[in-house]
Amino acid sequence: MFKKKNKLEYISDPRQLIVHNDPKSPISEQYRTIRTNIIFSAVDKEMKTILLTSGAPNAGKSTTAANVAIAFAQTGKKTLLIDCDLRRPTMHYTFETTNTNGLSSAIVNDINIQELIELTDIHNLHLLTAGPIPPNPAELLQSFKMKNLMKTLEANFDFIIVDTPPALSVADASILSDIVDGVLIVTNTKTNSRDELRKTKESLQKANANILGIVLNNKKMTTRDSYYYYYGGDK
Ligand SMILES: Nc1ncnc2c1ncn2[C@@H]1O[C@H](COP(=O)(O)OP(=O)(O)O)[C@@H](O)[C@H]1O
Ligand SMILES: [Mg+2]
Repeated sequence: MFKKKNKLEYISDPRQLIVHNDPKSPISEQYRTIRTNIIFSAVDKEMKTILLTSGAPNAGKSTTAANVAIAFAQTGKKTLLIDCDLRRPTMHYTFETTNTNGLSSAIVNDINIQELIELTDIHNLHLLTAGPIPPNPAELLQSFKMKNLMKTLEANFDFIIVDTPPALSVADASILSDIVDGVLIVTNTKTNSRDELRKTKESLQKANANILGIVLNNKKMTTRDSYYYYYGGDK
């Protein structure tokens, strides 16, 4: 399914799984810092299921979700990445697999969820793709079926990373925030505004989301040694 790329292929690949391809790079280190911070935030409450969203599209949610999931898998814990973006799913491209069946099939067609989860070529990392795009994603995501599926998955995995659509466009992320332990907001510091970020936070708070923090994507830090404070790449 997913094969490790050589350096040239990796540079030309727009969907970079850098934590896998170049684990020693400073960017990978930042993804591991996100993982560490999530683990540290689990003081009073178990942090098993983490949802990633953003205000607008193209903030880097899916890129961050995939790399954070790899960072969790690298700790040796059984990790599941779920593509809950039933509107613009991308994880099947990222992991070079098919999307004939996936989450939407499990909800609608009663297909056994265990049969739909694939083991990726990355050790300990499992993937549940989105499945065929349904006409009513929000309805599927707020169904009892979805809640029960999450309970089953929680019993079978140590960590679950959930990728979602943008929170300011559709209700999907807010709906799901109710059935996960914590939420990360991803923002592209070059294209997303503070106002957008504030609105995203408010809309998630209305849904009682447990917001763990904000991931600043595409930000080059200027303080101290910027090399080590580098979150994402300039395109
Ligand atoms: N830090 C980054 N540096 C360079 N390219 C990035 C970065 N984050 C995301 N991208 C690219 O931007 C595009 C949108 O990212 P994606 O993760 O799919 O966003 P979203 O899921 O929020 O819509 C993709 O082509 C991705 O490879
Ligand atoms: Mg996405």
